[in-house]
Amino acid sequence: MGIIKNQKQVFSLSKLQIQAAIDRSGLKNKVNVHVFEEIDSTNQWIKDNSLMVGNEQLLCVAESQSSGRGRSGRSWVSPEQSNVYMSFSYLPGVSRNNISPLSLVIGLALVRVLSRKGVLGLSLKWPNDVLLNGKKLAGILIESQLSNRELVMIIGIGVNVRMPVGIDIDSDIGWADLSNESSECLDRNEIIADLYTESMTMISKVLASDFSIYKAEWKSYDAFANKAIKVIDRGVVTNSGINAGIDENGCLLISSPAGVKKVYSGDVSLRLNKHD
Ligand code: BTN
Repeated sequence: MGIIKNQKQVFSLSKLQIQAAIDRSGLKNKVNVHVFEEIDSTNQWIKDNSLMVGNEQLLCVAESQSSGRGRSGRSWVSPEQSNVYMSFSYLPGVSRNNISPLSLVIGLALVRVLSRKGVLGLSLKWPNDVLLNGKKLAGILIESQLSNRELVMIIGIGVNVRMPVGIDIDSDIGWADLSNESSECLDRNEIIADLYTESMTMISKVLASDFSIYKAEWKSYDAFANKAIKVIDRGVVTNSGINAGIDENGCLLISSPAGVKKVYSGDVSLRLNKHD
């Protein structure tokens, strides 16, 4: 069943379809899929519910979010029946030390999934924005909490599939959606199931070894490779220089006359001129 938006069909979310596709994928750990018409935030739902379900893995998706959360305390615009809003928990064996590359891994998982569907023009902006033709297509918010003394990762992903006309989004690089891509891309159920499967597979691999297995692939999509950039953390410019890529752990490397610095967190933007 679908609804017609801006002349193209957008398929409604289907718990059955998502659950069946994930079950068929052969992932070792089972997941319980929960679909909502409206929710405050899918990340919040996973936080609230992972406390109750113990070791069960959860995937929460919604048609809309009333309080969608973005990074650095920003909100995430989440109109109904247009986009992907999904969150899932990851439980086994994650320590605080190896959390940081996870966000890079999820960005890469999304690029893999959308590339397989024929989407061109994808790139990655450190640490975890996915861009389409240089504009923000998707964002990733990773949170964590202790549940029964185990660290639970909450991985939230928002993908703009077909933004309704007239939506206003505050973004320094502008935003994009998949509406000009092939109609195959518009089945959000497929995107969600594929993205969940790809993410879980890649997370398991990175935790079994380290991020270096994905470093070259991530760098091949780096939107700002060799560009003059600045890093802003909580409103303050903390670093600036030339983007020298990422290291084995997914940290950003910035080269300046003072040497090469490692950056662990922050938002990256282009430095438009040397006085900026
Ligand atoms: C960013 O600021 O780039 C991260 C945006 C993350 C948005 C997603 S939508 C699904 C999940 N639930 C939320 O409240 N936020 C994340």
